[in-house]
Amino acid sequence: MTDRVHAIVLAAGQGTRMKSAQPKVLHAIGGKPMLGHVLDAVSAAGIGSAHLVLGHGADQVRDWLASRAVEAPRSVIQQQQLGTAHAVSQAMPDVPDTALVLVLYGDVPLISAATLEALIAAAADGFGLLTVTLDEPRGYGRILRDEKGRVTGIVEEKDATPAQRAIREVNTGLIAAPARRLRRWLAHVGNDNANREFYLTDVVGLAARDGVAIRTINAATHEEVEGVNDPLQLARAERVYQRRHVERLQREGLYLADPARFDLRGTLSIGRDVRIDIGCIVEGTVSLGDDVQIGPYCVLRDVTIAAGTRVDAYSLLDDSEVGNACIVGPYARLRPGTVLGSGVHIGNFVELKKTTVGDGSKANHLAYLGDAVIGARVNIGAGVITCNYDGANKFTTFIGDDAFIGTDSQLVAPVNIGRGAYIAAGSTIAKDAPDDQLTINRARDQRSLPWWVRPKKKP
Ligand code: UD1
Ligand code: CA
Repeated sequence: MTDRVHAIVLAAGQGTRMKSAQPKVLHAIGGKPMLGHVLDAVSAAGIGSAHLVLGHGADQVRDWLASRAVEAPRSVIQQQQLGTAHAVSQAMPDVPDTALVLVLYGDVPLISAATLEALIAAAADGFGLLTVTLDEPRGYGRILRDEKGRVTGIVEEKDATPAQRAIREVNTGLIAAPARRLRRWLAHVGNDNANREFYLTDVVGLAARDGVAIRTINAATHEEVEGVNDPLQLARAERVYQRRHVERLQREGLYLADPARFDLRGTLSIGRDVRIDIGCIVEGTVSLGDDVQIGPYCVLRDVTIAAGTRVDAYSLLDDSEVGNACIVGPYARLRPGTVLGSGVHIGNFVELKKTTVGDGSKANHLAYLGDAVIGARVNIGAGVITCNYDGANKFTTFIGDDAFIGTDSQLVAPVNIGRGAYIAAGSTIAKDAPDDQLTINRARDQRSLPWWVRPKKKP
């Protein structure tokens, strides 16, 4: 059934009320552009062919489409936004006569695949129309029915009589109809209305006049079909999205201190007894093993954390891999390319980048470890810095198992610190340090000056 369905997604409008330089459909919900949600619902419903109608910000939208992992749908440009019927007409030349057309809006992002499937099934009788009944129908097209309850047309609010405005069943904008007939109806739509626009809704009246049965599907919730036109509605849609996804994770066994203070902007997979405190953000693809505990106000972006690891407050973990039974934070920063073995401790104000840390190693305070390969059971003292960058190129620091790097040492890469090597505090190490020896490089003559007098303020 879905093989012959062609989805047409309308996304040419300017979105003036967003008051933004970014095209409306690229504004994100749960970290993904609205248009991405719509396209994902289309593919989840098993629809293979999608057509996009673009206009304002088309270049930006096409750049985003090209950046996705999946093949971009066909897109056409609607040069002038002359109305929703005109927009659909732009895509129709690419749609075969035998197709069933499903029209969606790029700014109605929370539509579910199940609803799309129901709408497609409704169109088997000739025409499917997705409606919703609202307490406050303002702004929407109203559904007109005859005395037998059959749909006879849609009237836009601006063109409606006071009696028609009292109707609470409204048009969501989503329709499904056979391509051949839709093409004919579109050709008959005029712009004799308050907006001087070619309304797609007029197609419904034309279909009814042709004696085609119009089957309506009721959206399960009004939230699913709510459009986003301004930042307020965007934030509302975000909350709806978060509530849905967070509830699903909680049912899968995620312990959240407060679901209202947790945000998912990607996908999270969890083991047993995973606990996340308040204020955390999960982005990209994140996987947390059994018994992982995340403290308050952490950001986890594209990370894998193995069982039993604890991440303490205010830590930022980005594109990293963390082994089991580690302690990370508070205030730790793992930048892309960090790999921690098991039982590693990374403490406050420690920053790692492209660095591998072996099992049981510790860097508990104030350190920068970049482009380093660190063995097992290494102790990195407070204030240690790998000098990995000479202003033009990056170099690697190797530190062997069981090495001890004294506090406030600088390791000037490229450099090798041997196994069991001991670097005295305050050393600048620019040459390799051998295994099992103390290496020291600091000014030798510590002096105290008995004749020294403390400077005084001039009177
Ligand atoms: C439309 C419906 C209305 C329905 C409402 C639901 C029409 C005439 N009216 O009204 O019955 O209740 O949606 O939200 O269809 N677009 C284009 N090109 C255009 C015009 C619009 O691509 O020339 C796109 C917009 O970017 C948007 C969508 O179509 O994504 C809807 O257009 P909009 O102008 O917002 O329609 P509404 O007035 O909200
Ligand atoms: Ca709208």
